[in-house]
Order: sequence, then C-alpha cells, then structure tokens
Amino acid sequence: MSAVPAVINVDVPGPVINRHLYGHFAEHLGRCVYGGFYVGEDSDLPNEGGLRLDVVEALRALNIPNLRWPGGCFADEYHWTDGIGPKDRRPVMVNTHWGNVEENNHFGTHEFMALCELLGAEPYISGNVGSGTVREMSDWVEYLTRDGDSPMVRLRKENGREEPWRVRFWGLGNEAWGCGGNMSAAQYAAEARRFGTYCRDHGDNKLYRIAAGANSFDYAWTETLMKQLGELGCAYRPAPFMQALSVHYYTLTGTWQDKGQATDFGTDDHYRTMVQAARVDELLTGHSNVMDCYDPGRNVGLVLDEWGTWWNVEPGTNPGFLYQQNTLRDALVAGLHFDVFHRHAGRLVMANIAQTVNVLQAMILTDPESGALVLTPTYHVFEMNKGHQDAASLRVDLPSGLPTREVGEDRLATVSLSASRKDGRLLVSLSNVDADEAADVELDLRGGAVTDVQARILTAGRLQDHNTPEASAAVAPRPYEQVTATASGLRVHLPAHSFVTVEGRLDGR
Ligand code: AHR
Repeated sequence: MSAVPAVINVDVPGPVINRHLYGHFAEHLGRCVYGGFYVGEDSDLPNEGGLRLDVVEALRALNIPNLRWPGGCFADEYHWTDGIGPKDRRPVMVNTHWGNVEENNHFGTHEFMALCELLGAEPYISGNVGSGTVREMSDWVEYLTRDGDSPMVRLRKENGREEPWRVRFWGLGNEAWGCGGNMSAAQYAAEARRFGTYCRDHGDNKLYRIAAGANSFDYAWTETLMKQLGELGCAYRPAPFMQALSVHYYTLTGTWQDKGQATDFGTDDHYRTMVQAARVDELLTGHSNVMDCYDPGRNVGLVLDEWGTWWNVEPGTNPGFLYQQNTLRDALVAGLHFDVFHRHAGRLVMANIAQTVNVLQAMILTDPESGALVLTPTYHVFEMNKGHQDAASLRVDLPSGLPTREVGEDRLATVSLSASRKDGRLLVSLSNVDADEAADVELDLRGGAVTDVQARILTAGRLQDHNTPEASAAVAPRPYEQVTATASGLRVHLPAHSFVTVEGRLDGR
C-alpha cells in the first residue's frame, strides 16, 4: 500500500492551540444538568452538594478547560435571581424550549460555580439578552465578581459566599437570530453594545465578553458585528463591548426535520456525515476572513461555542430532551473537528461541544434508572487529544494531497491529521474515516527526531458500535503497535474507520 506523505517541520511552532478549544457546554436541557451533573444531595449516588462525583472525576481526566452554562436557548429565558437563596424558596418556571418541563431552579449560580471548582474548569456564563434586562445582567456580573461592599455583594454574602468568584468568559445572549430574540444582525449588534457596556470589570476581574454570533455560514452576521468595532472609533480599540464573537455549527446527515439516526445508519449516511463535519473548515475560514478584514491584528477571538452531531432522539425518549447514542462515527466527527480547530488556532480561541452529559454529542451518558455511567467514543477522542491543549500547532504539508472519495457532488478527504508540540513532546492525531479501506501515512519529521514513540487507537468492528452499561468498553482506546520508524520519521498504518494518536519525545537534530 502506498503511503500518504505528510511533512511536519517540528522546529517551526505555529500558533498555540488554546486549551479552551476543548471546552464544554451544559444547558438546562433534558438530563444534562438534572440527572447528569446534578442529582441532589439526597441521591444514593456519591455526590458533593448534589453534584455527581463520578461525572466530575471522568471530566477531570479530560482536563476540561471550561464549561458554558446555562444555555443555549435556555439562557435567554433564564433569570439568575430565581436560582439563588434557599432551594425551597426558589421559584419554579417552565422550560419552554426544552420539553415544556418545570424547572425548579435547584441548580443555580452557586451550584454551577461549585461544579466548576470541582472540575477545575473556568466558568463561561451566557447572560440573558433575549428576555432579560441590562440591569439584570449587570447585577449578575456584580454578584459574581465584585469584592468589598455593594448591594449585590451583600446579597451574595447572605447566600453564603464571602469571596467573589473569578469569571472571565461572559456570553452576551445566545443565537440572537433565533431562540435568543429573533433579531436582525443590526438589532442584535446594538443590543450587544448596550449589554456589553454595562457588564463591568470589577476589581481585577476582567471579563472576556463573547457576542452571540452567526448561524453557521451567515457571514453577513459576523460582518455586521465586526463593523461595530470601527464605528466605536480608534480610542476604544479593542472595543469594550465584546472581546470575541461566536458561531454555532452542527453536523447532521439529513434535514432539521429528520436529522438521521444515531446508531441505525448505513455507509452512505456515514460519508454524508463526514462531508458535513469537514465543512467546519470552510465555516471557520469564512468567518475568519471576514474578521481579518476588520481586525487584521486578530484582537477579537472567534468562538465556536456549539458544535457536534445532532441526530433524531433515541426512540421512546422525550423529543425535547435531545438524548442520543454516540458511536464510533461520532468519535470520527470529533477527530475531524479537532484537526480543523488546530489549523485555525490563530483566530479560534474557544470551542464547546454540545453537550457534555446526556444531550446531543455527549461525553457521558447516564442511565436514568440505575444511574450507571458510560463514557462515549467521543469522550475517548477528547482524552486521547488532550495533549494538544496549550501546545504549539505544527503545520502539516501534504505534497501529494490526501486520499479522497466521491460523496454525491462532494469530494471527501478520507484521511485527516494534525500535530502539535509541547514540553519537548510531539503529538500527532490521525483519522481514517473510510468505512472499508485502510490507509498508511508517512510522517516526514523535519527539524527534529522523535524517540520513545507510543501510540493508541480508537476503532471497532463497525462504525455503529457504541458503549452501553453492559458493554462499556466496546469502543475504547487501546495501545497500538503499527507505527514504524523510517529514515525520515514514522509510518503510521490506519485501519478503516479508526482514530490514532502518536506521541513521542522530540530530540533536536
Ligand atoms: O444545543 C442545543 C441547542 O442548539 C441550543 O440550546 C441552541 O443554542 C442551539 O440551537
């Protein structure tokens, strides 16, 4: 089998891969928060203040860098003061977006911040622009981050928290073009300026305000927001109302009405999925290009704060709960996304998979009856790739291109790879998304030799294979031997539908 040549100059570090590209998202949706992260203090499951400790432990093993909360669409109907104070006095609301179920507000600000502390993750709070007020959002920032004495500080202290928390990431609403208020880009830009202005930096807590961005390929939305920076005048650069803007992109095989099944799919569906996943490169390139026109110095960050697969819900589950299984195919979608993220490390500062537990492309699924916890194939990609966090990206040149296959009117590259270096170590991630054909990649490592090579593989007999409480390691990483030294680097054999990581110590030549 001829190998795909890939040249990597290991002594030419590129932009640092922000660890926040491995971020997460927890919405009040289905069983993500309630039953997923939070089971209440009376639960038989081991918990601290109601927070599931096995979930915390599993996520800590990923070096989870941040957690976005409380939504999503829920964020724009959430009123934070409902979620503080004694639980028995917190008002009940209806979660109209997700299942029309009652929300008792037992998981609120203090519970979320305690969760972040347990996880060792930075909080990313999405404030309510759609149905909230500027004052409400401004008060929330004061409640969380102000020291000394003030009305909100006194309220926080009454609720048992003396010290302010540190909160950097602050979302100015969510999907303002849709569930977040059905606004036009110009209308939202004006709102973002107002809300962003009154979300103050208290003391040395500096907010990183993230404006709600485009729906997928809507570049005009990004342009409208970016233009605002110039309109504020030079004196305000970088603009005070936002430090970043976001975009959302989901991978589905069918239409929004019939998205495709999570486990019951064929090879054609698989390839269509991979084409959709790979388009995230086009998406990030498009938004980055627009941003470059207005901000060539790259002061404003691009945040992909919702991404992942979105399938029809599992049969028999509440359609509003977005509970789906997660197969080897989902893992390959994650592998493709991370390669693209690493290539865009110069502009992309954060990405958050939707969502961490029991919703959409989850890391963790829990059984509603027994509570049993299952790590998904996607979890394993996050774990195998965690060495890329805060590493210097390395450019990969492909003198002969990549193997491709025709998928309808598209051409899909069936091999994908990316590389980084950190602390004298090289990490290369490789995916072969071909359902049936193996591939070999010849890594030509220039500017340094690699020793002490170790590899792992994530694959399974079928793309549809997934983990369950009864077979929790049906798709799990194993040590991998089919990596051989060559005169100029390494040759990696990639079985059909596999994800492989190769790492080793770099010695300068
Ligand atoms: O992640 C599920 C939903 O998808 C989010 O609430 C919303 O922002 C997006 O449409």
